[in-house]
Amino acid sequence: MQLPHVLRRATPAGLKHNVRLRAAAVGAGVIPPRAMHSEEEAALLERLCRGRARVVELGVYEGGSAALLAGWVDAGTDLHLVDPFGEHPDALPAGWGALEAATRRVVARAAKARPEAAGPVNVHWHVALSQDLAATWQAPIDLLFIDGDHSEAGCRRDWDGFHGKVSADGVVLIHDSRLGQPGGRGLPGPTAVVDGLFRGPGALAGWRIVDEVDRTTVVARS
Ligand SMILES: C[S@@+](CC[C@H](N)C(=O)[O-])C[C@H]1O[C@@H](n2cnc3c(N)ncnc32)[C@H](O)[C@@H]1O
Repeated sequence: MQLPHVLRRATPAGLKHNVRLRAAAVGAGVIPPRAMHSEEEAALLERLCRGRARVVELGVYEGGSAALLAGWVDAGTDLHLVDPFGEHPDALPAGWGALEAATRRVVARAAKARPEAAGPVNVHWHVALSQDLAATWQAPIDLLFIDGDHSEAGCRRDWDGFHGKVSADGVVLIHDSRLGQPGGRGLPGPTAVVDGLFRGPGALAGWRIVDEVDRTTVVARS
């Protein structure tokens, strides 16, 4: 059972932002994982993750979006979750961090809560830096969600390392990449990557933006 919102709001900031205490509470299911997406983005993720055999999320944190994916993907989907865990100044605000054990529990609960008729999801954990995984990754990816290192170099490295492994009708979602766009939000790093690769006269051939919502840009092969 989760703590009532009023109690959570009354918790002193020093306690609320303590990484170990938060992880213990998130892992136990007493508080939900931090939602790093809006309702619109969750709806986009739900629509796009259906019918995909292999889904890869780079940057999992407390498992907010991974838990949604674990609940929504088709039966038998391979859901690969990639995160080194701990604190990362290029990925999270200062003092934030997630612990592997707690995030695993969040995702396991979501996978277990799937209705029997929905069938199981196959969750694969990669406690690693995405750039290390990219070097050895072979299998085609049907949905790639880039939400790890948010520096321009880090986001670009994820694009460079993984986009060649995306299947012909696959999609790539890049989070926090719509700073300055109408109705958009984002961070400078991922926004610079998306603007440089997919917008304007110098846009990369062979890929195009197929959807964009709030902080998320979706690209696919053209
Ligand atoms: C913004 S959070 C991810 C939020 C998550 N996708 C969600 O929607 O709940 C960024 C995460 O990226 C992870 N990270 C940082 N550098 C990374 C890297 N090189 N490879 C994979 N993950 C990384 C951090 O540990 C952090 O948990």
